[in-house]
Amino acid sequence: MLQNDNRAQFSTRLGVIATTVGSAVGLGNIWRFPYEAGTHGGGAFLITYLCFIFAFGIPILCAEFMIGRGTHSNIFGAFRQLRSSGKWHWVGYIGIVASIMILSFYSVVAGWTLEYLYQSITGALNLNSQEAYHAQFQQFSTHPWRPLLWTILFLIVNFVIVIRGVQKGIERMSNIMMPILFLILIIFCVNSLLMPGAKEGLEFLFSPDFSKIDSSVMVSAMGQAFFSLSLGLGTMMTYASYFSKETHIVKSATITACLDTTVAILSGVIIFPAVFTFGVSPTQGPALVFEVLPNIFNQLPGGSLWSILFFFLLFIASLSSTISMSEVSIAYFTEEKKMSRNKATILNTAIALIFGTLCALSFNCLDNITIAGMTIFSIFDYVSSNILLPAGGMFISFFAGWLLDRSFIHNQLTNNGSVKVRVTKAIIFSLKYVAPTGIILVFLSSLKLI
Ligand code: TRP
Repeated sequence: MLQNDNRAQFSTRLGVIATTVGSAVGLGNIWRFPYEAGTHGGGAFLITYLCFIFAFGIPILCAEFMIGRGTHSNIFGAFRQLRSSGKWHWVGYIGIVASIMILSFYSVVAGWTLEYLYQSITGALNLNSQEAYHAQFQQFSTHPWRPLLWTILFLIVNFVIVIRGVQKGIERMSNIMMPILFLILIIFCVNSLLMPGAKEGLEFLFSPDFSKIDSSVMVSAMGQAFFSLSLGLGTMMTYASYFSKETHIVKSATITACLDTTVAILSGVIIFPAVFTFGVSPTQGPALVFEVLPNIFNQLPGGSLWSILFFFLLFIASLSSTISMSEVSIAYFTEEKKMSRNKATILNTAIALIFGTLCALSFNCLDNITIAGMTIFSIFDYVSSNILLPAGGMFISFFAGWLLDRSFIHNQLTNNGSVKVRVTKAIIFSLKYVAPTGIILVFLSSLKLI
């Protein structure tokens, strides 16, 4: 689909949903959501996250879709077409920096997935206590070269797919794999609900203690909403440039957001009952799911088969996400800087390799390099997800709400009047007022300015 510029179009509605969901569903849902929820008070985090998904997420997703389809262009070209004057292309630069930062730390975690896939195959994950799983992850993540090797391997796989322009193949594969992933998540959910810690786990996730909602919960829930929906850096805009004129923008955005959120919640329902059953602290951080999931699988009949299947599916889900984020800088280098696709892909991967190496090593030999207590890995994660994506989203919503021609918005949302959309006004209202001011308020409160 994305390999050349003749702007092919998705032929079916399912194709649209499958591709946007393929980008959205990934480590963000299964690895990042539980660890963020765990460190930010469970229910308090979930409710704040859901508010951001509906108040900002879906409207900004609609904005990215409208702008992408209306201009048939990447984020730079889109802003240039719609507003040739001004400095709007800077939003594109934010997107490029954010996409490369995310690709760097994301590849480290995708590398962990590969290690766990490998360990499931060799039987190394058949341990007998939660402490042993904890020790296993610690040993692996602080190993001098193993995590780095997997990071590099993952980036090479991503590179080969993107440079050969065979995304279509991987997308087709992910269209089959995603429903299987969904199914096995449901099976794991049922299993978790039968655990002794189920009640405690569900209470942790679903009964919010509103007094816990402070600025740090809001910043991370907002970051998670943007991260999980692949919003704020032009990924969804690029994908929407391939939508056909029949694609129903509001419906597609809503379905994508609902499926994505469902996967995150399923993941929480799998993890937290187990967390309380196994006596793990929910505030483990990035290690959480890698220490808990293998123990869940180990206790299932046919344990290692589940584990192999799961880590393989997670690897494919990560790949369809990194392909989508690679496309942002590659589209910039090829369409704006007139580089060949080969050169652009090499450049994108080379930069990610350098930063990915720093992120991988920040668990061992570079762990003494910290800013405000955060390692390089955490800084990359925090700055890109919690600051750059919402900032990008704020500019996109402000642009769509205040500067886009009203008839452009109308034509895009209603497919030139051929479909009825009841929520047009609500979307415009959010883009104009709710999203930009909301994002600024969260930023200000995190800086202790309000
Ligand atoms: N949404 C993906 C996930 O949850 C990650 C991702 C892919 C992404 N493309 C993105 C995040 C663009 C931000 C921006 O795993």
